[in-house]
Formats: sequence, C-alpha cells, structure tokens
Amino acid sequence: MKATGGAVTREVRIGIIGGGLMGRELMALVGRWPVLVDHPVRPRVTALADPSPSAQAWFESAGVSTITDDYHRLLSDPDIDVLYIAVPHHLHEKIYLDAIGAGKDFLAEKPFGIDLPSAKRIVAAIDSSSVFVRVSSEMPFFPGAQRAYEYVQSGALGEIIEVRAGLLHSSDVNRDKPINWKRQRKYCGEIGVMGDLGMHVAHLPLRLGWVPKSVYGLLDDIVPTRKNAEGQDLSADTFDNATLSMKVVTARSDGRSFPMQWETKRIAPGHSNSWYFEALGMDGGVRFNTRNPTTHQIYSIVEGEQRWSEIQPGYRSVWPTFTGAIFEFGFADALLQMWATFLAEREGALGVGFGTATVHEALVSHKVFAAALSSHATNAAVEVDIVG
Ligand SMILES: NC(=O)c1ccc[n+]([C@@H]2O[C@H](COP(=O)([O-])OP(=O)(O)OC[C@H]3O[C@@H](n4cnc5c(N)ncnc54)[C@H](O)[C@@H]3O)[C@@H](O)[C@H]2O)c1
Repeated sequence: MKATGGAVTREVRIGIIGGGLMGRELMALVGRWPVLVDHPVRPRVTALADPSPSAQAWFESAGVSTITDDYHRLLSDPDIDVLYIAVPHHLHEKIYLDAIGAGKDFLAEKPFGIDLPSAKRIVAAIDSSSVFVRVSSEMPFFPGAQRAYEYVQSGALGEIIEVRAGLLHSSDVNRDKPINWKRQRKYCGEIGVMGDLGMHVAHLPLRLGWVPKSVYGLLDDIVPTRKNAEGQDLSADTFDNATLSMKVVTARSDGRSFPMQWETKRIAPGHSNSWYFEALGMDGGVRFNTRNPTTHQIYSIVEGEQRWSEIQPGYRSVWPTFTGAIFEFGFADALLQMWATFLAEREGALGVGFGTATVHEALVSHKVFAAALSSHATNAAVEVDIVG
C-alpha cells in the first residue's frame, strides 16, 4: 500500500505479453497515472514476455525487471497480478486460454481471437472461470464520445432514425508500405480490417444495446500484394476496407428496424485516425469525430429552427483527473482512461462508470463480422446469429 496525497492506493503488478506498439503504450501511460484523482490502485509494469530482442531491449532500458521470451513464466509468477496480452491475432486463443487456465486476470487485445469460433472458445472458458477479463477499446473514452453516449442514454433523441460509426485510417494508402502480419490472413484473420478496427467501432453502439439483426457487408481487398523487407511480392490477402449496413430492431409494435452503418477502413485517403459516432433521432441528434477532437455537436429544434450546437466538453472523461478541464484530450489520454476504468472495475470501484469492452461485446462483434463475411460471399444480407 502507498499513501498518495491522503488516498491509499494498492500496487497492481502488470506483466506484458507482447511488447510491440501497444505494450509500449502501456509502459508510457503508467508514468502519467498520478494525474488520476483517488484511483484505488497504482499499476507497475514488472515483466515482459516477448521473443523479439528489440522489444526486450526496449523494455529493459525502460526499467522492467523480468524479461523473458517465454510467456508461461509470467503465467506461473505469483508476483504478477494482471496481464496485458497484445500479440498478433493468430496467437490470441492459445495465450488467452493459457492465461485463463492459470487464473490470471487480463486486458485482452481485440479482435479477441482470430475468428468467431476462436472467440466462442475463449468466452466459454472465461464464463466457466473466475478471471476478470476485458477487451481493449479506447476511442469511446474521448470526452466527446462520452458526452455523445450520455446524450443518447438520456433519451433526448426520441425515435432513432439512423446510426453511423466508423474508424478510418490512411495507413495503407501507400502501396510501397512493406507487408506485415496485419495484412496477412493467417496472422490477422479472414475478417481483416474488421479485426483490426472493428471493436473500436462496435463498442459504443453495442453498449447502447444496438445489436444488429442483419448485415450487408461490402468488403474490399484493394492492395492484394505487398513487398516484404527483401523486396519479394507477397499476398496481402486481408480486406483493407469494410462497410457494414445493418438493421437494428426497435421496440415498435410494427417491427420497424433502423439502419446502422459501421465503416472500418485502412485505405481512407485524408484520414489519419478518424473515429466517429453519429446518431440521429426524431427529437435530437449527436455527433463526434476525432478529426475535431475537442468538440461534439448536438442537434435540436429550437423555436422551429433546426440547429447543430457545438459543445467543448474539455478534458473530462470517465475517471477524474488533475489535468484541468480546459485542456485538450488525445489518444494517449484515451488509453489512460481505458486502463483506469479496467483496473477500477477489477477492484469493484467503477460503479456505473463506462468501462472498456466486455468479452461478450467482443463476441457479438465477431458474430457481426462473421455475418459480414458470408454476406460478402453471397452478395446478400445475412442474419446475425446472436444466440448461436
Ligand atoms: N487498442 C488499440 O488501439 C490497438 C492498436 C494496435 C494494435 N492493437 C492490437 O494489439 C495486438 C498487438 O498489436 P501490435 O500493433 O502491438 O502488434 P506488434 O506487431 O507491434 O507487436 C506484437 C508483439 O508481439 C510479440 N510476440 C509475437 N509472438 C509472441 C509470443 N509468442 N509471446 C509473446 N510475444 C509475442 C512480437 O514480438 C511483437 O513485439 C493486436 O491484437 C492488435 O489488434 C490494438
């Protein structure tokens, strides 16, 4: 236990499995942890498992004491409280199942298994264990996204007209970008870009209860080959872009559904990392886009006039911080909030606060992506098998 400004915090020791991009982001955000007001725990990264010599060297120089290339060592280490597992998708199932078998709590990376059958097996194992597991999805922690979520929950929209959500990158617009595991089915999964970006898009709509009943999927592999480091052409056989048009059933007695669209694109010229959420109803509307991260807009009819009002929510997400409300919020702040809510929820201290994605939300997202794959193959809308 440590005393910090009157509050007593417990240390949580974290072991990282997979010290790539995301593992390093965790290392960085724990340094900013003290800005969180009265958080019940204080994380410390104590161990890394990663076979890559460069990853090992990076974490060693960052002060991590236990470095190994065998993740089993972290599973059997009683001094590790929580794992963060951030490895390529073909390794998710094996490592997640081993972590569950070892009784370790963990934050899993999306898409949570390489495909739907894999996600089902992982969720079944979690459901019959007592481990605490959540799935990484940080974008909904932007203040504008949080206010949009609260606005929808307030009922201000009235009858929903339509919903659009998406995550647009231009990461692959350069045809000369070398191939990596995310562009190859055997490592990334057949769902391709939906596995990479889909959980980010699905999290907020699913938390609002908008589970689609059917999907029409437009999937596109725009750049089918890419060169490796040696200059050889290899098959880049994952979908680069996906647009899913879905129907969400309403409670209306005539069985009306409203349209919902999820876009995930690695080739969206002009977009760096545009995460957006937009919901329109008969009485109101709300929209937020990280292209314009400090503001969100609310639609209303005032004295007979249609009006979009711009709101600056400031630096206010889920967990309170010492950072002043007037300042700007960004990607690293969203990751900090995601971890703050994950560790608070694990302590039973999140209350009704918005938490990161649940394993069942990840499973539903896989069901939608699997339906989108069959829709693409049959060129027809496909029912989402939610109970199966
Ligand atoms: N939440 C987000 O915003 C976000 C962003 C990018 C990636 N991701 C997810 O994070 C996960 C990892 O992606 P990344 O971009 O960090 O990939 P990365 O390629 O940068 O890193 C993966 C790391 O895993 C290591 N690894 C491979 N086999 C291993 C093994 N057997 N044991 C331990 N480590 C092993 C690799 O050496 C590498 O260092 C994926 O599931 C991806 O979808 C999430």
